[in-house]
Parts: sequence; C-alpha cells; structure tokens
Amino acid sequence: MNDQLMGKRRIVVLISGSGSNLQSFIDRCADESINGTLVAVLSNRPGVKGLERAAAAAIPNIVVDHSSFESRSEFDAALADVIDSFSPDLVVLAGFMRILTPQFVNRFLGRLINIHPSLLPKYPGLHTHQRAIDAGDSEAGATVHFVTPELDGGPAIVQAKVPLESNDTAESLASRVLGFEHQIYPLAAEWFCQGRLELREGHVILDNELLPEGGVSVEIAEHPGAGE
Ligand code: GAR
Repeated sequence: MNDQLMGKRRIVVLISGSGSNLQSFIDRCADESINGTLVAVLSNRPGVKGLERAAAAAIPNIVVDHSSFESRSEFDAALADVIDSFSPDLVVLAGFMRILTPQFVNRFLGRLINIHPSLLPKYPGLHTHQRAIDAGDSEAGATVHFVTPELDGGPAIVQAKVPLESNDTAESLASRVLGFEHQIYPLAAEWFCQGRLELREGHVILDNELLPEGGVSVEIAEHPGAGE
C-alpha cells in the first residue's frame, strides 16, 4: 500500500550539518514509531554528513546553498518553494542554522517545528551549553517547539531536562543533551503525525489540552547514551 493510503504524513527535514537528529527521524520512520514518511531532506550547506545519511536511506536530498543568494529573503523564498514542491504536512528543522524570515515562518506556521539545545526560554541563539555552565545552572536540556517569527521564541511542545555535572564542558554537555534530543524530537513528530498536536492561536494543544509553558516535561528513565 502506498503512503497516501496508509495515511502517513509527509515530512521534510531541513539540516545544516551532522544530521544526527535527522538520523533519529530516519530510524523512527523506518520502525514506524512515526506515522510519517521523510519525503525530502534539504540542506543549506553542501557536503554535510546529514546529506550522506539521507542518501543512505534513499531519501531525496537537495542543497539550497544560502551563499548563492543575494539576500536572506531570496534564499528563504527559494527554499520555501522547494519545500512546497514536496507538499509536506510537517517541516522539521534539525540543526538548521539559519535565521528564517517572518515570510518563511508564516508560510509554514503550525507545521514547522524546531529543536533547540536549551531549556527555552533560557538561552535562545548560540553557545547554549557554555551559557548554562557559565550561569552555574543545575540543569540543561533541549526543547522542541513550534516555530514562530521570534527567534527560538515559539511555544514549547516538549522538553528534556538533563542534570549538569560538575566537570561538564560545553562538549560533554552537548553530547549528553543530544542523546535526549534524539528521543524527544521524534516523539513530538509522532504526536503531530497522529493528529494529536497542533498550534492554536499561538498555544500548543496536545490531545485537546492546552500545554503549560515549557510543554510536556519528559522524564527519560534510561540514559540514552551520548549523541553521535
Ligand atoms: C542539535 O544539538 C540541535 O539542537 C542544534 O544543533 C544540533 C544539530 O545536531 N540546533 C540549534 O542549535 C538550533 N538553534 P545534528 O545536526 O546532529 O542534528
């Protein structure tokens, strides 16, 4: 039976680098934990490992190189057209390291999600792990959220909290958090693909309930191991 008949949602993933979160989507779609099909992987950078992961899984993969566009808005318009050519139900930013214009975000509002390596609203932007260490925080983590025009400011769907250890470096913490990212990101996508999750008037609704700020807080019993 084809994907349409099985009601699988069409997912486009945007990457800029290693694509370990992409890999978690590839794996969870393959074992059918996510009721979805990865219809395309798009990268704004050529030659990145995420593109190899997509090719190895026989997923159409395309480079839309931001450096060959005159302006951010021209790049975003071209990228949006490529995304739309795959008619996605869900657009997943997985380590996509470009700031998106409001025009782009509004075109995909409600079906555009991102993962950010901090407990938002703490530490939007870059160097999140070093900032958590420098602030003496007792915990760090990652947040999956709907994307809105405000950078890393959209409402949270799910967070994983990771205790900070006294000898943590930005690298050790990033690696530990990444292992949890690989669990919570496919989980959020699974909810979306089951039709349980939506953005309604700026709020996140899961199973017809309004989620609190910070979204669902996932307790992950077993340490998932360091991320790739
Ligand atoms: C992940 O840690 C993700 O949370 C982060 O980039 C990494 C990508 O890793 N995203 C951001 O910082 C977005 N603001 P991956 O390419 O191995 O999935």
